[in-house]
Amino acid sequence: MEKRAPRQESFNSRNYFILAAIGSAVGLGNIWRFPYVAFKNGGGAFILPYLIALLAVGIPLLFFDYALGHRYRGSAPLSLRRMGRWTESLGWWQVMVCFVIGIYYAAIIGWAGMYTLFSINQAWGSDPKTFLMRDFLHVADTPGVGLDFVPSLFIPILVVWAVTLITVALGVNKGLAMVNKIFMPLLVVMFLVLVVQSLFLPGAGTGLDALFTPKWSALLDYKVWMAAFGQIFFSLSVGFGIMLTYASYLQRRRSNLVGTGLVAGFANSSFELFAGIGVFATLGFMAHNQGGSVSDLEGITGVSLSFITFPTVIAQMPGGALFGVLFFASFAMAGLTSFISIIQVVAAGVGEKLDLAPKKASLVVGVPAAVLSFALFATRSGLPDLDVVDAFINNIGVVASAIIMCVVVAWVLRRSRLLQDHLNAVSESRMIGLWWRALVGGIVPVLLGYMFFQTLWTYLSEGYDTYSSGFIAVFGWGMLLVVALCTAVMTLISWKTPVDEFEPLRLEAASEED
Ligand code: ALA
Repeated sequence: MEKRAPRQESFNSRNYFILAAIGSAVGLGNIWRFPYVAFKNGGGAFILPYLIALLAVGIPLLFFDYALGHRYRGSAPLSLRRMGRWTESLGWWQVMVCFVIGIYYAAIIGWAGMYTLFSINQAWGSDPKTFLMRDFLHVADTPGVGLDFVPSLFIPILVVWAVTLITVALGVNKGLAMVNKIFMPLLVVMFLVLVVQSLFLPGAGTGLDALFTPKWSALLDYKVWMAAFGQIFFSLSVGFGIMLTYASYLQRRRSNLVGTGLVAGFANSSFELFAGIGVFATLGFMAHNQGGSVSDLEGITGVSLSFITFPTVIAQMPGGALFGVLFFASFAMAGLTSFISIIQVVAAGVGEKLDLAPKKASLVVGVPAAVLSFALFATRSGLPDLDVVDAFINNIGVVASAIIMCVVVAWVLRRSRLLQDHLNAVSESRMIGLWWRALVGGIVPVLLGYMFFQTLWTYLSEGYDTYSSGFIAVFGWGMLLVVALCTAVMTLISWKTPVDEFEPLRLEAASEED
């Protein structure tokens, strides 16, 4: 048996853990993704599938991740290996998925950082679209994958990587907890000011009507339900190692995982609704200025919403500079705390495997990741490449990871009862029961499996979006292949290493703590 030194790192307080978990969940998914997904999928009626997705998929999976990390006290590969030797591969798949998400996530945060500065004098002038595409990103005329480097994108991406790697190197208390302690309250205050400012804009009410007026017929459309599950999944950061890794730094037995999960889940959704209100009040103002309705507006999705539509509105509103700074700085801060959690998954996985201290792990993981981030996303083709990788890695890589995890734990290793007991023993309430096992072992994998095959079929038969030719058409598949190959290599390396001596938390001791 390999003898492993006990892990040194743990959160000094459960509040740090809660803050870090909320910091990870509240990210780009809340600010730029939720508002347009809700709008496109039935407006007010979307709230129903959204809440069902939160309660039936999001929170049960969050408990699942927490239980695994807390019971087996390791990064994703180590925890899964301790549960069942060959499941370490799934942990490496999650690590690789986070690595790929990380390399493009850094670019978006870097852009938001630059737009915070651009907001001060509204550098985009009267044509934000041309400014974004031509002057800032220098997007190539034809989408492709190339190494046509854009030097001005280098600095912001470098800053994002530097802050993140220093945070990870400082460890969970001095780094991770401190960053969340500073940025999360700041984010809430800034976003509050922004939403209040947006509600006083002329036309704000019509924007909110557009978001919240229910289109009940949407509830009959399966795509609306899939969109709700997809949103919750991405937004809560569940199923791809993040919450598992964070929970592994909670070493007290009495950790109230259930209460903490409920707080993190509802805080994330509240922030999401709040962001929807701010964004749509602002869009209402834009529609008001154009004398039309919100549904006539163009560019209410993804990159366009944040980097073209918002700058357009900012240029038209009183106090636009303040609004712009608040919006883009919130965006960058929310993104940064999520990004740190993503990189922590990789650094913890690799660090534990190679027995590295946080500083070394941060460098070993961060330097190659940052180089790839520059090489792929600080280029003239960065924008379309990012779009493709984001879709493939989230809709296929992350969803596959969650389905396999549920099936393996519930049906192959049959550990869901053990995890249920663990959750109850370490929490203040014993509410986890058969309903939870039925969800994670049955309903969640079935629902996600359906979503997964629908997406797979669409990508295989129609390609993704409009990228149907050239290297970019296979870029997403290529990235998944790289993830699969790296997972296979790590599995082969792991195969010969014996499982370390490990004693899970003794459940009966839980009540003796505190
Ligand atoms: N949960 C993170 C987000 O919403 C990944 O962006």
